[in-house]
Amino acid sequence: MTNWDSLYIYYISGTGNARISSKWIAEEAEKRGLKTVVQQIDRLENIVMPAPGQKPLIGFAYPTHGFNAAPIMLRFIAGFPSKLCKEIFLLNTRAGMKLYKLFMPGLSGLALVLPAFILWLKGYKCIGFRPVDLPSNWIPLHPGLRKKVIESIFARCEPIVRNFANKILDGKRVFRGLYSLPVDLLISPIAAGYYIGGRFFLAKTFIANSNCNNCGICIKECPTSSIKLVRNRPYWKLTCESCMRCLNHCPERAIEAAHGLATGIMILITAVNTRLIIFIIDSLNIQPDVWWWKVLSQLIGIGVMILVAALIYLIMHFAMGFKPISFIVRFTSFTTFPFWRRYKYLKEKKDFENKTETTSNHKT
Ligand SMILES: Cc1cc2nc3c(=O)[nH]c(=O)nc-3n(C[C@H](O)[C@H](O)[C@H](O)COP(=O)(O)O)c2cc1C
Repeated sequence: MTNWDSLYIYYISGTGNARISSKWIAEEAEKRGLKTVVQQIDRLENIVMPAPGQKPLIGFAYPTHGFNAAPIMLRFIAGFPSKLCKEIFLLNTRAGMKLYKLFMPGLSGLALVLPAFILWLKGYKCIGFRPVDLPSNWIPLHPGLRKKVIESIFARCEPIVRNFANKILDGKRVFRGLYSLPVDLLISPIAAGYYIGGRFFLAKTFIANSNCNNCGICIKECPTSSIKLVRNRPYWKLTCESCMRCLNHCPERAIEAAHGLATGIMILITAVNTRLIIFIIDSLNIQPDVWWWKVLSQLIGIGVMILVAALIYLIMHFAMGFKPISFIVRFTSFTTFPFWRRYKYLKEKKDFENKTETTSNHKT
């Protein structure tokens, strides 16, 4: 069935990969005369939904975070109204790399199957889902890719996304995301771990170094409003989703992923957590081999770890007012070294500079 009169794409993007992919899809739809609305779901605010009477095809595009869809997109999809249309499609951007001449794919984990399932529960039929391996933006793990590599990854991926769009618009079913399903399901426990605990820990690894001039760009741009000024320096709240927009786009290169601080937090929370669990087990006199207690104690453990990490981060934020501490934190961050490139290729590209959020021949 292809009697759609419009295409709505809802996307979230830290560094532009999901954004440019949405634009490519919209361009293919516009060539066919479809009205298109491409909307960023930053802060889940001002979102345009299809009007009653329209017959839209709806798509969702988003990066993979911790072998799952970015949490803000999962929240958006969970709260998405039902019955706005019949068919939907999904596109997840992943960490593409290149080793010599070999393009290396990322891993989706639950990033496609979980949103497809949630939308199916809401009565939508998923007519296609596909991962696309655009350049990795996970800068705390590795320096940004070189420009030449980025360009060759883009040259490879653009036709892939446009082809995907055309197949969907032709009414064909595309389930390329199923190819890696066994591996994706195998790593689903890691996805769950990232969602329940890991992402909160990562939120507490960002710092602003002394290059920060309080321009406020990171605060303004943060898609989850997770950065605020504390003592005249940006402070990352637990709601941060580590999308990398701030770190990659800071014009002063003032944002670091603090590897030294993160290691310190890790060592401390592991010690505190173990002691606390032993203390609770001892004082409540509960048999640790009861299944529900094992689950509960793990959840308590994760909760305690997150709170302790947040507390240490808060203390360190104030302590960094002292130059020696700030020096140590900064110079134990790999991201401070000049060779640790940022990923902002798309930011530099002219078409990405276009600030219009809704590209369309029809603006609602
Ligand atoms: C916190 C974080 C977690 C990530 N997890 C994954 C992952 O599990 N699998 C993967 O293939 N890529 C992962 N990536 C890489 C991004 O999904 C990938 O670079 C994506 O293309 C970025 O899209 P964007 O520019 O639209 O944000 C991760 C990146 C970040 C910052």
